[in-house]
Amino acid sequence: MAGSGATGAALPVALVAGATGGLGVPICSALASAGFRIAVGYHRSATAAAKLAAELPGTGHFALVAPVTDSDALSAMAAELARRCQRCDVLVNAAGTTRFVPHGDLEQLDDALFDAIFAVNVRGAFAAVRALKPLLERSELPGGGVVINLSSIAALTAMGSNVAYCASKAALDNMSRSLARALAPRIRVVSVSPGLVDTPFVKSLDQAWRDEQAARTPLRRLALPAEVARAVVAAVTQLTFTTGAVIAVDGGRPLS
Ligand SMILES: NC(=O)c1ccc[n+]([C@@H]2O[C@H](COP(=O)([O-])OP(=O)(O)OC[C@H]3O[C@@H](n4cnc5c(N)ncnc54)[C@H](OP(=O)(O)O)[C@@H]3O)[C@@H](O)[C@H]2O)c1
Repeated sequence: MAGSGATGAALPVALVAGATGGLGVPICSALASAGFRIAVGYHRSATAAAKLAAELPGTGHFALVAPVTDSDALSAMAAELARRCQRCDVLVNAAGTTRFVPHGDLEQLDDALFDAIFAVNVRGAFAAVRALKPLLERSELPGGGVVINLSSIAALTAMGSNVAYCASKAALDNMSRSLARALAPRIRVVSVSPGLVDTPFVKSLDQAWRDEQAARTPLRRLALPAEVARAVVAAVTQLTFTTGAVIAVDGGRPLS
């Protein structure tokens, strides 16, 4: 674990799982700029997490191991968060996994890959909520504690990196609604659902394919990472009567 030096003791705290990813980084940055102390959750990227914690605006940020497929490790993570901060106001589930498999290639989407995608994208998000529920329900943010699940328009369009990925995001949106009902009134649960985002990974993909995705989007471009991050901050700080909703950041892509 790494710290930034200062304590940030009075600040509201946000744990971001998958914090070092293409969307995790701008989300951490935007929440830190909005006055949150960030627990930079990582799985394998310990060094990147420590560096990010040290570079975020504001004070008191620190890296914290948060492997979402290991429920014992998540319990330990929650205990460490309680020890260090005595609170957790926001959980952002930005951990995710996938691999490109053509939808017609049923053999290549084997059981191991199918299970791995659901273990991180669905069960992992649930396990993180379960581990942090006692802290989140003590939050005194206006509207209570908040869970943000990073979904995808693939949940709606059934177009995405593979069949299991699309299904996992539909399951995640459904789970956001169940948990919103179950955890009210102390905790709000919201899906933030981007279309294709111009993250470093997406920038590395074939330009002609990226152009085609932009052309099929009514707003004629991909989402910027900062736009997704702003939607997360808005859901946390502004949309205090919103729960169980899916907030699209997709330029209208499902309309075309
Ligand atoms: N980028 C897009 O265009 C886009 C569009 C729509 C939706 N989304 C969704 O947004 C979320 C974030 O996407 P991204 O582009 O930031 O992905 P990314 O760059 O591939 O990052 C994935 C993150 O998930 C973490 N992770 C993977 N397995 C984990 C595990 N078992 N436990 C904990 N963390 C784990 C990784 O952490 P380590 O490196 O530490 O292992 C990494 O930080 C995903 O759910 C994705 O499906 C992305």
